[in-house]
Amino acid sequence: MRSARRRDTGSRLMAWIALSASLIALLACDRPATRAPEGEASGVAAAPAVQPSSASRRAAYDVDPRHPVSATELGALGRALFFDASLSASGRTACASCHDPAHAHAPGNASPVQRAGADGRTPGVRAVPSLRYLQFVPPFSEHHHENEGDESIDAGPTGGHTWDGRAASLHEQAGLPLLSPFEMANGTPEAFVARLKQTPSAARFRALWGDDVLERPADAFAAAAMALEVFQQTPAEFQPFSSKYDAVLRGQAELSPAEARGLAAFNDPARGNCAACHPSEPKADGALPLFSDFGHIALGVPRNRAIPANADPAFRDLGLCGPLRTDLRERVDYCGAFRAPSLRNVATRQSFFHNGVFHDLAEAVRFYAGRDLDPARWYGRDPQGRIRRFDDLPERYQANLNREPPFGERPRRRPALSEAEVRDIVAFLRTLTDADVIEAAHRVPAPAGRVGRGAPRP
Ligand code: HEC
Ligand code: HEC
Repeated sequence: MRSARRRDTGSRLMAWIALSASLIALLACDRPATRAPEGEASGVAAAPAVQPSSASRRAAYDVDPRHPVSATELGALGRALFFDASLSASGRTACASCHDPAHAHAPGNASPVQRAGADGRTPGVRAVPSLRYLQFVPPFSEHHHENEGDESIDAGPTGGHTWDGRAASLHEQAGLPLLSPFEMANGTPEAFVARLKQTPSAARFRALWGDDVLERPADAFAAAAMALEVFQQTPAEFQPFSSKYDAVLRGQAELSPAEARGLAAFNDPARGNCAACHPSEPKADGALPLFSDFGHIALGVPRNRAIPANADPAFRDLGLCGPLRTDLRERVDYCGAFRAPSLRNVATRQSFFHNGVFHDLAEAVRFYAGRDLDPARWYGRDPQGRIRRFDDLPERYQANLNREPPFGERPRRRPALSEAEVRDIVAFLRTLTDADVIEAAHRVPAPAGRVGRGAPRP
């Protein structure tokens, strides 16, 4: 069964770069497409490439073959779009409102979901993930085979963008928030391009893709998604590998005793067993670890009553099997599964898991150790006062839950992690914060109103 899949510690996922074949060609113009961080061998060269998914996407590259667009130009344009709130229906929401660079491209507030949409107040249904290190997320597959370790093991559903892996690539993903009613709420590419025409970026589009590009909304939209995709692959901003732990792996720093104890508990299959899904060791080719194997797993995190959508008892976010994702609705054995996020920069988050139900990192770690020993602590009660174990996953799907360590019954009901070990793991997780994010936290806050500081609040 899925819940018993793959979980051998040390099995690692090859970092695949989800670049389209054409994008690799584009990037080759002025920088290496897969520039590996120091110490990381580029074993990525053999990675399969995602094919362009739509005709309009191809058209965007081919608009003017006499004027190939370089990755530098695309990235600069993508950056301008990323911070431009006037591209949203409300005029108040930019990508950076929810994906704030000062917070590792995640929200700077503790709200489990962010508000945006046409009126700037529509609440989302999921916690906003960090946009860092996403370049290494493999394309979604129901049958993932490790490139290292035992290739014959089918690791099950893996990869793809968003919590349920429904966007195949960053390119496809970039199009979703531009249109989504919960995010920038443009509704259609036409409406987006109408707004784009009013921004300073319009001139850049015409210069790069020809004077009439904005009269062809499908092409202009695809070009915008492409620019955002390229921007999100800027190594220094989106995959800096500048954390203390990276320095430790490069032999340039040492973990404190508490951090080292935390790492040991994190890796130990009999204690945290965290590395089974959040690998912490460099890969065989020397690539730095990503702290996720990107597998889709049902953990059974508690229902979050603070999410407005959850006021409706009939609303259930079941991840892979819907309702946001629609192509796997029939796969009842996938219900409740969400993609394991990277734990890089996790200590800077203020809401944890897909529904942001926890607001304290130690509590998120305690949940792993206590889920099956002390359900009363985590789950709500029914009207008769009985504990509703796994209160966000209907009983018929509970067989999908992962029950390997640190979950499961324990000898003498002793949790897999002591409170001291929880604290040590948190100390270790704090070593995964990128240097620029630590620096930003020490800077004086920018004046109110600047896009990119503080996401819209409920
Ligand atoms: C209102 C808040 C909000 C705004 C604005 C927003 N996003 Fe997001 N973003 C989210 C949420 C929530 C998710 C997770 C969605 C899901 O799992 O269904 C997400 C997911 C993503 C992901 C996938 C992350 C992963 O782990 O695979 C990418 C990439 C992304 N957003 C990029 C963007 C870009 C580019 C923009 C601007 C065009 C943008 N977002 C605007 C809230 C936002
Ligand atoms: C069986 C795979 C698996 C194991 C083992 C595992 N995790 Fe996770 N982890 C996941 C998945 C899947 C999610 C997302 C689940 C969701 O949101 O519903 C997650 C989410 C998290 C989050 C929330 C991150 C965020 O961005 O919101 C933290 C923190 C975390 N894990 C830490 C740990 C620690 C610490 C351990 C060991 C005690 C551990 N994990 C063990 C699969 C696993």
